[in-house]
Amino acid sequence: METLKRTKIKALLGREPGGEVLAKGWVRTKRGNKQVKFIALNDGSTINNIQVVADMERFDEELVKRITTGASLAVRGELTSSIGSGQAVEIQAREIEVFGDCDPMRYPLQKKDTSLEYLRTVAHLRPRTNTFGAILRIRHAMAFAIHQFFNDKGFVYLHTPLITESDAEGAGDMFQVTTLDLKDIPLDKKGNVDFSKDFFGKKTSLTVSGQLEGELGATAVGEIYTFGPTFRAENSNTPRHLAEFWMIEPEMAFYDIEDNMELAEEFVKYLVQYALDHCMDDLRFLNDKYDNGLIERLHSVLGIAFERVTYTRAVEILEKAVAEGVPFEFPVHWGTDFQSEHERYLVEKYFGKPVILTDFPKDIKAFYMKQNEDGRTVRGMDVLFPKIGEIIGGSEREASLEKLEGRIAELGMSRKNLEWYIDTRRFGSVPHSGFGLGFERLLLFVTGMANIRDVIPFPRTPKNAEF
Ligand code: 4AD
Ligand code: MG
Repeated sequence: METLKRTKIKALLGREPGGEVLAKGWVRTKRGNKQVKFIALNDGSTINNIQVVADMERFDEELVKRITTGASLAVRGELTSSIGSGQAVEIQAREIEVFGDCDPMRYPLQKKDTSLEYLRTVAHLRPRTNTFGAILRIRHAMAFAIHQFFNDKGFVYLHTPLITESDAEGAGDMFQVTTLDLKDIPLDKKGNVDFSKDFFGKKTSLTVSGQLEGELGATAVGEIYTFGPTFRAENSNTPRHLAEFWMIEPEMAFYDIEDNMELAEEFVKYLVQYALDHCMDDLRFLNDKYDNGLIERLHSVLGIAFERVTYTRAVEILEKAVAEGVPFEFPVHWGTDFQSEHERYLVEKYFGKPVILTDFPKDIKAFYMKQNEDGRTVRGMDVLFPKIGEIIGGSEREASLEKLEGRIAELGMSRKNLEWYIDTRRFGSVPHSGFGLGFERLLLFVTGMANIRDVIPFPRTPKNAEF
């Protein structure tokens, strides 16, 4: 067996029959009778299994007993055309080696209960299911396509820090990073925690966004993007929030809000098209198993222009809906932040396509957004998607030193940790824009999964940080 090189199952399934092959993988199922056994083998290279046919005259009863769901095998044999339906080729086994047994009485994936809720409790093994194999492959393909998209456009991939002292979004939901002894916290004369004794000599946290450092890159090399983990300690137990998620943040010098919207729309369409072009087997599986509208919905966002509408106009539409009896749970009027029910009404009911909302009240958005002439709105933009709500948040940035400083003062923010950021406006300031795409929100859309915990291998949510 050793002289023969292993071929991945994806490659074997695409081959013409003939010749001796070596496959390795995990048993999905075994069926058959006294004379012959059919083993479905999967190695993760594709959602599809290869069928291994074991003639019982050739194999020892004891060995075949060990071939149970979840066991790992090497199989050498002839690749032949298959008479059974469902596959073009199969392996007529000559030699089978069991690497690792898998006790059917104890294997958690043997259970009848394969609900997504149950699988979350065995997240260390769920990658072995068809569903999570498909999700992990799609997740990878999307990550790869993101780098491809920006590389093709000449953007520079910028690594921004994960440990930081800046609260970019100003929402204050940061995880603190400290090496101080929590049982013996050093205090200063006023009785406050003395962070000068801490590892970095100051108070630090995990980043909620790489944007501010991203702007440093964009105002130097022109166009950058970040792609990394992001941490938010918001206590929201929803199907759309994680405490640790991945975000892609492009930031572009000389882009105004229109350029920004164009890039965002082109970007998500590129990713959806990439999934359709490269992940069809996995998408078909998810479409059939969980969401019959998935593939159609993916196609539906490609052919149309996203609707661009100001926040103010959206409020008018929503207020009219309320007057006509649409039962929203949360109130809506000018000045409120939209809830997911409002976003979904606009996208799914009113416009029937993705929507880009712009020009929000300044009080519900971060300090760095470009201020409009009206004095009460800012040039923010949110991209809203069917079934998800907000998938992208971004803006044109305030490029005027005076206006930026004014806003920082107005909000009572400490300038102490922000002087480095303000320098971008002090020295050669340029109009610039950027946005953040939530990677898992994108994956919710592309996979059709309903819960964000099911599109990341090891979800972190309030009271849950296992593995
Ligand atoms: O709208 P947000 O907060 O924008 C920013 O962080 C900006 N600094 C981005 C920028 O302009 N460079 O977050 C951006 C996106 C959201 O639209 C959403 O898709 C995702 O990040 N997101 C989350 N995804 C999962 N769990 C959470 N708790 C999320 N919070 C935001
Ligand atoms: Mg947002």
